[in-house]
Order: sequence, then structure tokens, then C-alpha cells
Amino acid sequence: MTTTAASAHPTTSTEPAAPLKVAVILGSNRDGRFGPVVAAWFLARAARHPGVETDLIDVAEADLPAAITFSPDADAAARLGAVSARLAAADAFVVLTPEYNHSFPAPLKTLIDWHSAEWQAKPVAFVGYGGISGGLRAVEHLRQVFAELHTVTLRDTVSFHNAGALFDDQGRHLDPEPADAAAKTLLDQLVWWGTALHDARKARPYGA
Ligand SMILES: Cc1cc2nc3c(=O)[nH]c(=O)nc-3n(C[C@H](O)[C@H](O)[C@H](O)COP(=O)(O)O)c2cc1C
Repeated sequence: MTTTAASAHPTTSTEPAAPLKVAVILGSNRDGRFGPVVAAWFLARAARHPGVETDLIDVAEADLPAAITFSPDADAAARLGAVSARLAAADAFVVLTPEYNHSFPAPLKTLIDWHSAEWQAKPVAFVGYGGISGGLRAVEHLRQVFAELHTVTLRDTVSFHNAGALFDDQGRHLDPEPADAAAKTLLDQLVWWGTALHDARKARPYGA
């Protein structure tokens, strides 16, 4: 799914810049998961943020094998083929992660570990959700993982504590203003870093 906001992200050029390509990664595949509510909420905010184009990558749909190999069979190759090019095409990432036992879910780690160059020299932002933690411990673990992959992780996050109680049955946030403000801050930072690193990679290929 791809959505685009109307205007372009900031540029010093007189040419209108293309929207920043943001892969939004839904990190839960649990039966009965709450993640799609968080994804719909975030995608709606991104859709009205200037200069952003989103592509939702759902780990449940990607369904990558847990056993990583340099010689994937036809099935694994087909699953990888459906997702790897979309990660490679992205200029920035937003990871939506719940917290499971003080960390992030295993299928999210599998998606991360199957890839390498796709992440490099790009920014990663986080929307965490969970019980009392609001996903914050999962996010801090992800920062360590993404440092290894040559990414820049953004300081500001969106965090939903006791997430299930914060939204109504239609997926509307019950106290929208602070959450909307947090999403705007995150997206502003993502556009800055995404644009800066996009231009830097274009000027000089990143040598990891
Ligand atoms: C296996 C498991 C472990 C969990 N561990 C934590 C935890 O350590 N801290 C927390 O705040 N919430 C924890 N939770 C609550 C989840 O973060 C919360 O239910 C969240 O909505 C799960 O995301 P999902 O529904 O998209 O899978 C856990 C839930 C599950 C299923």
C-alpha cells in the first residue's frame, strides 16, 4: 500500500523534490494483534504530512523463514523478492513495534536479519506500543540492532502505553492531540534525516 502527501520535502534546489519514500514496517504477526490499529493511525498521519510517501511492509505478509541462508530455496526467494526491493527503494523507515517480554517480536528481527545493504545510511524512526512499557524497551533494543546496520535512529518516538485502551472501536485515538504532535515531530525529523542522507548517498555512495 502506498500513500503520498501533496507537497514535497524541503530542498535547496529550484526543482520540486520527489516525496521521501518511507517504508512503514509493522512488526507484529500475532494472531489477534493490535498492530493494524497502530499502523492505520500512523499511516493516516503520514498521509497528511508534507513530502512523505509510505509503503506498508507487514511482517505477517512478508512471512520470511526464521532460518536464514545464503542459498534460499524457491519459496524463500519468492518471499524475499516480494519485500527486499521495497526495503531497498525506501529512503527512510518507521518501525511499528509492540513489546514482547521487554523486547521486540521475533518476526521483526527475522525481517531485519535477512537484509543488510537495504538499511544502510538511512534513518529509522520508531512507534512503540505495548502494556505498561509503551514499547519503549523494545525501541531501545532496536536502536542497538540498527546501529549495527549503519542506520541513524531518530531521538523522538511515538509511544502508546496500554495501547488497547487508547483507541476506540473505530481505531480513533481517544486523546488525539498529544499523539498527533508526537507523530508530527517524528515525521519532521524523518524528513530532515531522510532528505539529508538521500542527498549524501547520491553525492557519494556509502561504503560500509
Ligand atoms: C508474548 C507477549 C509478551 C508481552 N510482553 C510485554 C512486556 O514485556 N511489556 C509490555 O508493556 N507489554 C507486553 N505485552 C503486551 C503487548 O505489548 C501488547 O499486548 C501489544 O498490543 C502486542 O502487540 P500486538 O497485539 O500487535 O501483537 C506482551 C504481549 C505478549 C503477547
